[in-house]
Amino acid sequence: MDIMVLNGDGIGPEIMDAGTKILKKLNDNFGVNINPVKYDIGARSLDQGKYKIENILEEARKYRAILKAPMGDPKLRNTGGTEIALDLILALRFDLDLYANVRPVRLLPGVSSPLIGYKSMDSINYTIIRENSEGLYSSHFGGLVLRDEVAIDNQTITRKGTERIAKFAFDLALKTEGAPKNGERSVVCTDKSNVLKSFAFFRKIFSEVSLEYKQIKPRYMYADAMAQYMILNPEELNVIVTENMFGDVLSDLGASTVGGLGFAYSANVSDSMGMFEPVHGSAPDIAGRNIANPTAMIMSTAMMLDWLGYPEYRKTIEKALFKTIEIGVKTTDMGGNASTSFFTENILNNMDQ
Ligand code: NAI
Ligand code: MG
Repeated sequence: MDIMVLNGDGIGPEIMDAGTKILKKLNDNFGVNINPVKYDIGARSLDQGKYKIENILEEARKYRAILKAPMGDPKLRNTGGTEIALDLILALRFDLDLYANVRPVRLLPGVSSPLIGYKSMDSINYTIIRENSEGLYSSHFGGLVLRDEVAIDNQTITRKGTERIAKFAFDLALKTEGAPKNGERSVVCTDKSNVLKSFAFFRKIFSEVSLEYKQIKPRYMYADAMAQYMILNPEELNVIVTENMFGDVLSDLGASTVGGLGFAYSANVSDSMGMFEPVHGSAPDIAGRNIANPTAMIMSTAMMLDWLGYPEYRKTIEKALFKTIEIGVKTTDMGGNASTSFFTENILNNMDQ
């Protein structure tokens, strides 16, 4: 099976190297027939006019799965001030209708949390489902700046979009073991329905959908309160469902509780296609130094294999990754001094055992 590989910018190519080496190892050791087809696509290649977004989308539609490295160069901006990379990232999510952004927040073994008392893998383990096709970010292609005096972006929430994301969240909760604290399976609708009608509508639709899922507890929280809850009671969380921009912001907060952005992996999925990528960006501050943590990229690769129907290879990757961290091979963000390539080599070696 061919999969589309987007190399991205900044640390993108460095960490994608880890992802593709792991796929090659699976091919060599187990005959997993997955062929990464690499494209040098990111903000830089768009800026240089090497690719057009329509052509990338047309190409992307040929694949079932896309493995995507982070993209972006804060220096490369459109005339309105937004970043060029976001035109592509959002086009991939919106135009391919990858409506569910699945973002696990999971404390991996051997990784320390800045939250006191949270140590084992079972202490923080929940998933943020970020609605990925509407919300405030859907205004990206339609925002307005008038006479350099007024700027307007609109939030869009639809019945169809909210129903399908709520169903997705409940279906996911059904497959989980529940919250680490008590095994309770729940979905927390996270919004600002106290302020905006669009969010009150989101909450109403969520509540309607919840009636179809008697085994899962529906919960409700405002997004600001959720920010505190994720710090004080993460062990009580199972699944969170939220609007696009809240999901973006809350998932970086969640990442910081489980060791940082280097551990935040994700899937963007529709009912027929998936794009797998780290939650973090292209980290221009550390690019080109071979010090980035490739875990999020590797776990995104594992998530892709699981989604493609190979859960056993997800386990193989996780086992080798966890072992690497547990024996003390750690990148600088984890407090160690392993380079990206050394860390990756260790995982590859552990996959032989
Ligand atoms: P960022 O996530 O790239 O970096 C934030 C901080 O986390 C930096 O200090 C960085 O060094 C650190 N960091 C991130 N990933 C790391 C890793 N794997 N290992 C070690 N440290 C890591 O966010 P920032 O700086 O706001 O954005 C940089 C660029 O990335 C921008 O152009 C932005 O638009 C883009 N971006 C792209 C995303 C995507 O492709 N999905 C997502 C988020 C941002
Ligand atoms: Mg983000």
